Amino acid sequence: MTKANLSLNGTDYEFDVIVGSEGEVGVDFSSLRKTAKAISYDPAFGSTGACSSAITFINGEKGILRYRGYAIEDLAENSTFEEVMFLLVKGELPNAAQLKAFKSQLAEHAEIPDALVEQYKALPKTLHPMAALSSIMVSLSGYYPTTGDEDQDIIRLLAKMKAFVALGYRQSKGQDFVQSKNGENYIADFVEMMFGKTSPALEQAFDQLLILHADHEQNCSASTVRMVGSSQANLYASIASGVNALWGPRHGGANQKVIEMLEMIQNDGGDASKYLSKAQDKSDEFRLMGFGHRVYKNFDPRAKIIKIAADEVLDDLGLDNDETLDIAKALEKAALEEEYFKARNLYPNVDFYSGIIYRALGIPTDMFTVMFALGRLPGWIAQWKEWNAEPKSRIHRPRQIYTGPTERKVNPISER
Ligand code: ACO
Repeated sequence: MTKANLSLNGTDYEFDVIVGSEGEVGVDFSSLRKTAKAISYDPAFGSTGACSSAITFINGEKGILRYRGYAIEDLAENSTFEEVMFLLVKGELPNAAQLKAFKSQLAEHAEIPDALVEQYKALPKTLHPMAALSSIMVSLSGYYPTTGDEDQDIIRLLAKMKAFVALGYRQSKGQDFVQSKNGENYIADFVEMMFGKTSPALEQAFDQLLILHADHEQNCSASTVRMVGSSQANLYASIASGVNALWGPRHGGANQKVIEMLEMIQNDGGDASKYLSKAQDKSDEFRLMGFGHRVYKNFDPRAKIIKIAADEVLDDLGLDNDETLDIAKALEKAALEEEYFKARNLYPNVDFYSGIIYRALGIPTDMFTVMFALGRLPGWIAQWKEWNAEPKSRIHRPRQIYTGPTERKVNPISER
C-alpha cells in the first residue's frame, strides 16, 4: 500500500493511501489526531471523504454519474425508476422475477393510514410542503415502529412516499386525496394519484426525473442522513433529516428558486441581462439559481438528459413560446457564452431544467423540492443502509479549531 507523508513541527508522520475502484485517491487521516495531535481542517468538506461507498460514482470534471456502475444516461434510457430503486437499495438490477416480487411488495404497502391523511390536513396551511413532508416522515415511526426487519421497513417507506407527495400536491390544489389504486405500476399510480389521470408522456417525464434524482453520493442531504443515522436514530428520523437538508436553496430547494427567479425577472420587465450583471457583481448577493455545482465543473450529465425531456414536455404542452421560458433560454445562452460563467464553469444544473418541467406540468413551485425528495428517497435509503452495514461504524463527530476567547473569569454584573 502506498503511503503519504506529513511533516508537522519537525516530526514526520506516515499515513495509508486508499485508492477507490475508479482510481480516486484518499489519504487516511483517521489516526491524525492520535499520532500528530492535529486535525484535518476542511470546512464544507471539499477535500474530505467521510466514507467509502459502493453506491454512486461521480467524476465532476468529466461529467460522469453512475449508480452502482451503470451510467445515468444508460439507466435513463433503458431502465425504470422501480428498477433504479431496486438497484440502489439492493445493489443489483433486478431480474424479471425479482422485479415482479418487488412491484407486488410496493403495491402491498402503497396505502397510507387515514389518520395520517388527517394529520397532514391539520398542519398549518402556511407550512412549506418540505416541512410537512419531514414531519410526516418522523410521524411514521409512530405508525410503523421499526421492526428490526430492515428490508420490511425500507419497502414500506419506498411504497408510501409517493402518497405523501400526492397528498401534499392535492392539498395545495384544494382536492381530496386519493389512495393508491395501481400500486404495481409505481409511476402510473403516482401520476394518477397526483392528477387523477395519466398519459405515456407524463409517465416518461416523471420516470426520467425520478431516475436522474435518485442518488448523488455524499451531497448535503445524503451526508446528513448518514450523520443522523450514525447516532442510531431510526430510518424515518434519518430520512426526515435528509428532507430538511434538501429543502435549502443551495441544494434541492434551488428548483423552486429557479422559477421564483425567472418570475422575478419577468415582473421586472424581462431584462435577463440586468440579472446576469447582478450575478457577476461581487458586491451583490444575487446568484443565478440553477447555475453551478460543487462537484460538476464541466457539465451536469443529468442536465443534458433533462434538457431534452424539458424541450419535449414544453413541445407536448404547446408551451414553447412561454415568456418565463424565454428568459430561461436567455440565461442559459449567456452562461454558455459569457466569460464570467465560462471561467467559473457555471452551467445550468439539473434543477434549472427540472423546475421548468414542473412549472409546465402545473405543479406549485413550493412542491418542486418535494418531487426531488421522492426521487432521492432510494438514494438516501441506500446510503443509510450502507452506513448501517459498516462493521466499524462509529457516531459521526467532526472536530473543530476553536477561535473563541481563552479562559476568563465571570466578573460581577456591576463590573461588566
Ligand atoms: N451565480 C453567480 N455566480 C456563481 C454562482 C451562481 N449561481 N455559483 C457560483 N458562482 C461563483 C461564485 O461567486 C464564485 O466566484 P469567485 O470565484 O469569483 O468568488 C465561484 O462561482 C465559485 O463559487 P462557489 O460558491 O465557491 O461554488 P460552490 O461549489 O461552493 O457552490 C453552489 C456550488 C452552491 C451550487 C453554487 O454554485 C450556487 O449557489 N448555485 C446556485 C444554487 C443552485 O443552483 N443550487 C443547486 C445545486 S445542484 C443540486 O443540489 C441538485
